[in-house]
Amino acid sequence: MVDLLARTFNVDDFESLARKVLPRPVFDFYAGGAEDERTLRANRQAFEVMGLAPRVLVDVSAPNTQVELLGAGVSMPVVVAPMGAVGFGCRKGDEAIAAAAAAAGIPYILSSTATASIETIASVSSGRKWFQLYPLKRADLMWRLVDRARAAGFEALVITVDVPVGGKRERDLHNDFAMPFRFTARNLSAFAMRPKWAAGMLMQGVPVMENLKELAPEGSKAAGLASSVGAGFDCGFTWQHLAELRRRWHGPLLVKGVLHPSDAAQAKALGCDGVIVSNHGGRQLDSGVSALSCLADIVDQVGSGMEVYMDGGVRRGSDIVKALARGAKGVLMGRPLLFGACVAGQPGAERVLAILKDELLRTLQLCGVAELAAISSELVQQPCTSSSQASSTTHHHHLLNRHFAIASRDTTHTQA
Ligand code: FNR
Repeated sequence: MVDLLARTFNVDDFESLARKVLPRPVFDFYAGGAEDERTLRANRQAFEVMGLAPRVLVDVSAPNTQVELLGAGVSMPVVVAPMGAVGFGCRKGDEAIAAAAAAAGIPYILSSTATASIETIASVSSGRKWFQLYPLKRADLMWRLVDRARAAGFEALVITVDVPVGGKRERDLHNDFAMPFRFTARNLSAFAMRPKWAAGMLMQGVPVMENLKELAPEGSKAAGLASSVGAGFDCGFTWQHLAELRRRWHGPLLVKGVLHPSDAAQAKALGCDGVIVSNHGGRQLDSGVSALSCLADIVDQVGSGMEVYMDGGVRRGSDIVKALARGAKGVLMGRPLLFGACVAGQPGAERVLAILKDELLRTLQLCGVAELAAISSELVQQPCTSSSQASSTTHHHHLLNRHFAIASRDTTHTQA
């Protein structure tokens, strides 16, 4: 295990390793996005086309990555994104990731659809914890979750608003990976290829969405649970409901899944403390815009007085710097931590965070930035706009035409 981790050098290494330990349907459920996965790719591309314009001759002997998020200090501006169904890939994976976040000094967001309960996470993590809520048709259950989170010491509430209905995840359809989880003729061979995983499922049973057990018709029985969960989401949840949540929850409240400046402004007007600019990691609306590309307009719109976070495609320390240069207070990271836990439990998730921190520090030093507050929009170069892309395409065509013109002239000569 130690050897394995010592040979991981970037967070994407964990995705490659996770592919080897997880059955294909589970890996695809985690890694995949909706429909053509345009938005999933767009999240990464937005970072890839953005350049950093470094400064030099600055004393960067000890850059400081600490910052205050929601009024308290963190070791770096990174928060663990809420993720459901982690237990399908890693038994006690939620606990492992929460403990890794606490050890690294960053906040952890527990999903409503997590495979560990609010109280269990409180018992394994003494770090900062935020609770993610989905709007539920069963309002009584929703308020009970809020009360439990408060009682267990979760300091902030994150309401996710980009799942009025589930996205169309075609990898899952192809793989017969459905909730409720079941073995079928089609998926059985994929599970059989990972016998250790399959044995765990058979012996320990299928993990359960611990906090939503009450939505299941028969207590905690796995069968029927997840489908009841999906049907339990309230697609009639509107700004009025958000206002009620604001009245009833007195701690910090963040709205996750905002991509439009006007929505961010409305959340601010209702007294929310922050928004998380996110397209759910490309798992919901396909063809939705990338989170990074929306960030600056939203920050401009809400100004100060509201913290703006982003997630989707953060894979490098330099990505964090780019998001901050576009005005984010911090970033959330999802899949890499999940893959880290699947590969090596808590040490795996810790290694992911250590790699990220190392890259963040190195990027700051190479950019001539001694503290996060010194990061400004000047540090990033505008990504290729459609007009510059168009002109580079024209230039490319021009070069190609010249090449073919010369080639055909040459051919004529040869033939002559
Ligand atoms: C998620 N995400 C998510 N978001 C949320 O608000 N509640 C949830 O229960 C879940 N569940 C979930 C499960 C899995 C397997 C994944 C991969 C993602 C979305 C998540 O919080 C975050 O927005 C994205 O994952 C961020 O993108 P990256 O870092 O994974 O690219």
